[in-house]
Amino acid sequence: MSRFFLFFFLTSVCVAQTSVSADGAATFNCSTIRELLSSCHEESLQIIENASPYSQRRSTTQAESDNLGVSRAGEVFHMALQLLKDKAQQKYERKFTASELLSWENVKLLGELSQCPAATDPDVCEQSHHNKYRTITGLCNNRQNPRWGAANTALVRWLPAEYEDGEGEPNGWNRERLHNGFQLPPPRRVSREIIRSSCKWREDDYSQLLVDWGQYIDHDMTFTPQSIRSAAFWTDVDCHKTCENVHPCFPIEIEGSLCMPFRRSTPDCFITSGSDFHQVLQRQQLNAITSYIDASLVYGHTPKLESTFRDLSGLSGKLTVNKRFRDQNGRSFLPFVVKTPSACRTDQQGERVECFRAGDSRVNEVLPLIALHTLWLREHNRIAEALKLINDHWSPEIIYQETRKIVGAMHQIITMRDYVPKIIGLESFERYIGPYRGYDPTVDASASNVFATAALRFGHGTIPPILSRLNASFQEHEQYPHLRIHKSFFSPWRIVKEGGIEPTLRGLIGTAAPTVHANSLLVEEVTEMLVVLDTHQNMDLASLNLQRGRDHGLPGYNKWRNFCGLMQIQTLADLTKAVGDVSVAEKILDLYKHPDNIDIWLGGLVENIIPGSRTGPLFACLIGKQMKSIRDGDRFWWEADGVFTQQQQNELLKASLSRVICDNTDIQEVPPDSFKFGNYPADYVECGAIPLMSLDAWREERSRDLELCGLPRPIKNGDFIFSSQSGILTALYSCYHGFKLEGAAEIICEGNQWSNEAPRCTCE
Ligand code: HEM
Ligand SMILES: *[C@@H]1O[C@H](CO)[C@@H](O)[C@H](O)[C@H]1NC(C)=O
Ligand SMILES: *[C@@H]1O[C@H](CO)[C@@H](O)[C@H](O)[C@H]1NC(C)=O
Repeated sequence: MSRFFLFFFLTSVCVAQTSVSADGAATFNCSTIRELLSSCHEESLQIIENASPYSQRRSTTQAESDNLGVSRAGEVFHMALQLLKDKAQQKYERKFTASELLSWENVKLLGELSQCPAATDPDVCEQSHHNKYRTITGLCNNRQNPRWGAANTALVRWLPAEYEDGEGEPNGWNRERLHNGFQLPPPRRVSREIIRSSCKWREDDYSQLLVDWGQYIDHDMTFTPQSIRSAAFWTDVDCHKTCENVHPCFPIEIEGSLCMPFRRSTPDCFITSGSDFHQVLQRQQLNAITSYIDASLVYGHTPKLESTFRDLSGLSGKLTVNKRFRDQNGRSFLPFVVKTPSACRTDQQGERVECFRAGDSRVNEVLPLIALHTLWLREHNRIAEALKLINDHWSPEIIYQETRKIVGAMHQIITMRDYVPKIIGLESFERYIGPYRGYDPTVDASASNVFATAALRFGHGTIPPILSRLNASFQEHEQYPHLRIHKSFFSPWRIVKEGGIEPTLRGLIGTAAPTVHANSLLVEEVTEMLVVLDTHQNMDLASLNLQRGRDHGLPGYNKWRNFCGLMQIQTLADLTKAVGDVSVAEKILDLYKHPDNIDIWLGGLVENIIPGSRTGPLFACLIGKQMKSIRDGDRFWWEADGVFTQQQQNELLKASLSRVICDNTDIQEVPPDSFKFGNYPADYVECGAIPLMSLDAWREERSRDLELCGLPRPIKNGDFIFSSQSGILTALYSCYHGFKLEGAAEIICEGNQWSNEAPRCTCE
């Protein structure tokens, strides 16, 4: 459509509009494209605001509330596009895509109106602060492309999205629509007929901890926020009650006329001159957190969140701990959420136990997750205390940042050295990841959509139905016996009142992981009894995963096989070979009819496991590629030049999850590699035999300059770190969240005094 025609067309839509208003369609008046766009935008704003989404959703999760700005912009932008398309359709009685209707300039205009985030100028990365430590948002990790891997940026596409309308309607949105000649099977049917299983065998070389580390580390890399609205935009129908597909509700059909609620993931909008026109108009999803392995699930991913976890008044560089409860040995627990009463379950007796608060808002989902978060809270505080003793001239900020850096490195080492090879197998590790060759600034470390939405969700097939809780001799705990998994959802009280984190942690180390097989995929505990906060109905994790893949427009299983250089599935024989089980292969083709229609998550999940791993060839490839980019594209990767000294690297290499458990719990015997299953006591060793990283490698003598100038002055509501990049001792000041700096942010040690007075931090 030419520009001239476009103008003409849009103008005529405007003129014609008044007559359409009778059937309740939105009316507007305008005579230019600009006005038309603003009016669609206005209307979209009104629709989104009128249903008062913010108050209604604020309580649910932190990540959702602190990315409200970005989510809202995306929501407004896409709603305006939808309005525009609807108007065009009403007028011309055929469907239009936004790219038929709009020019690049129009899109930019709409982006501005919707307040889509602007490009980040690489200049902001020049601040010296951003060179010594990671930013909390991940911004500027890559200096040329500051947003790569940062929180609240789009999940990247390794293959273009495939939507029913090419732009944003998910597959299955129009239930009658044919794909390759067939309707897509409803996710719940796939779940019921292929995925659901009533049992799992445990006979594995690996421990249950391997399963739960997967979920834990996923929460360091991806969090796809859902629509900020829980009601349909147009009709204000509640997504929990409708069976109709109306943005953002995309309910999952179950038998009869019932549905399971489902909200679409929030769309992103980010428009720069370099953006691809079609990609901008296509619906993209967000990653609310940093994709880097940086322990963002301990520290948060925005300055505001971060400030709520720090114990700033203690001047110790530590994190805040629970003020009301400690465990039987005086060890700390995570703090509670601020807003009470919270949505977590609690026992009826005694004091209420609220949801815990951590750098990632999903912490309360299952007990093992709470246990791991608690472990790292304690590890941070343990290291911070030790560093303070070693370097008494370090400010609280330096202690905090150095500790955060060490904890981040430990997350990387445990994940890349101990976890990933067991998940994808050594051979895939070598093929897709290989040895480290240094930081590569051309690599985009952003999480890909297929990784978050399909590949890493392989882990859902490794969830056992029972959570073991063990006593000090690694036998079922007499007081706190094993639990069915669903009894451990959102139950922080079981940590506080049922013996702390030890019974659960021992259960993770001391229990074999379930095996994965095509005919026992997801246990009923999660397909029939999943709890999702703010939904009262029992949910089905398998259906959610399938529906989420369609919501995100992920291409099908075969396209991804092709992406990874694997053979295309064309016949039952092909599929049987990939799956290793003819009856499962038959059931899949029965339901899907055409191999190209198979949902990627299902296809990847049922593949024959590569010996010695937990995944089939497709997921091994996708996970391998992602882990490589997250490693190679991270300027602060622990092995990158200049991040740690050689001596520090040598110490970090001694880190292990077994040691972290030894140092922060009552557990005194562990397997050397706690991801491997061993029998107690034969395969266990005393903690004393587990390598201990010496923090002496972080000892920093006071330099001559520092002796001469003396310690920089501490300030209220802010702090300093040292830098000596230019060979001159410099104190870099910054203010805590909510305060702004007045005076010189950098002061240097000249002669025998500091160049300036310390700055002040005042209320913003
Ligand atoms: C009992 C254990 C678990 C429960 C209850 C659970 C539950 C959930 C739920 C409810 C979602 C959101 C589904 C949606 O609406 O799209 C989710 C997402 C996800 N889960 Fe799990 N999960 C568990 C274990 C795991 C494990 C073991 C792994 C990996 C090894 C894993 C990886 C993921 C990933 C990658 C996502 C997508 C995250 C995002 O980008 O938002 N989960 N899980
Ligand atoms: C434009 O629309 C508004 C309400 O949407 C109406 O009040 C106003 O009279 C209209 N203006 C014209 C010129 O039609
Ligand atoms: C753990 O439980 C087993 C079996 O009930 C019991 O024999 C053992 O003494 C218990 N160990 C401890 C340290 O309580």
